[in-house]
Amino acid sequence: MKVLKTVNEIKQLRPNLPPPLGFVPTMGYLHEGHLALVRQARAENSSVVVSIFVNPTQFGPHEDFDSYPRDPKRDLALLEKEGVGIVFMPSADEIYPPNFNNWVEVGEIAERLEGASRPGHFRGVATVVARLFNIVQPDRAYFGRKDAQQLIVIRKMVADLNMNLEVVAVPTVREGDGLAMSSRNTYLNPEERKAALVLYQALTLAQKLFSGGEKDAQAIRRQMTELIQKEPLAHIDYISIADAETLDELDVVRPPALVSLAVKIGKTRLIDNVVVG
Ligand code: PAJ
Repeated sequence: MKVLKTVNEIKQLRPNLPPPLGFVPTMGYLHEGHLALVRQARAENSSVVVSIFVNPTQFGPHEDFDSYPRDPKRDLALLEKEGVGIVFMPSADEIYPPNFNNWVEVGEIAERLEGASRPGHFRGVATVVARLFNIVQPDRAYFGRKDAQQLIVIRKMVADLNMNLEVVAVPTVREGDGLAMSSRNTYLNPEERKAALVLYQALTLAQKLFSGGEKDAQAIRRQMTELIQKEPLAHIDYISIADAETLDELDVVRPPALVSLAVKIGKTRLIDNVVVG
């Protein structure tokens, strides 16, 4: 496994990599969710590049950029075990040189949900992903459904800017009890870890209500809210039932609908989603 730190090293190596090339962008502190992307990329491509870069521009000024968990040694050992050929681990200067001054301006879709709570987040995500795509030049790039809105934003960027690659979506990987795997789960103390289950419980409730015939989105949101409010450590940021493509909020649940939520458990903000129908 080659670990490359500079854009030049990737540029030199790129022509020698047998196609198709699958690319998995990550911020590291890898878990089974990331590894599911890596495995699918390995299965579908002749070459695989994984990037590890905690992207400062997608964090707000009061968010957790400084405390975001990092363990490059462990990450590299995991990727080695998965048989990954190339890991790109650039420094912040390498991705944002001093005179860096161009940004991907994401449209309306980025102002909702995560974008409403985290202004500028998707501008940072889209910009770093566009830059990484230009550096790595993948044929396919792998993203998790766990970050459903991110997936929509990236798909839209690739379509609107005619980027020459395929975006592949990978299902959410969960812990045994249903909690979606996330690098941020490491912030949870044992009590919070138990409380964090309400996210999945609320999503499961939505699915159950929908399959039982409930089509009134507001009624479903209300029941999800009541369930989460019973957990004293949980504070709802948003609960959304929206069109899975446009993210328009729905009055009547028309499948495929994306049920998504952001909930703070103590100080840790967690997100999760399911598609109904
Ligand atoms: P990060 O949070 O490290 O996630 C990297 C990729 O792993 C994303 O595509 C994310 O959706 C996926 N992923 C995370 N948890 C998952 C889970 N439980 N199941 C399935 N997939 C999961 O998302 C980012 O980094 C960044 O925004 C990035 C795209 C790298 C740009 O900086």
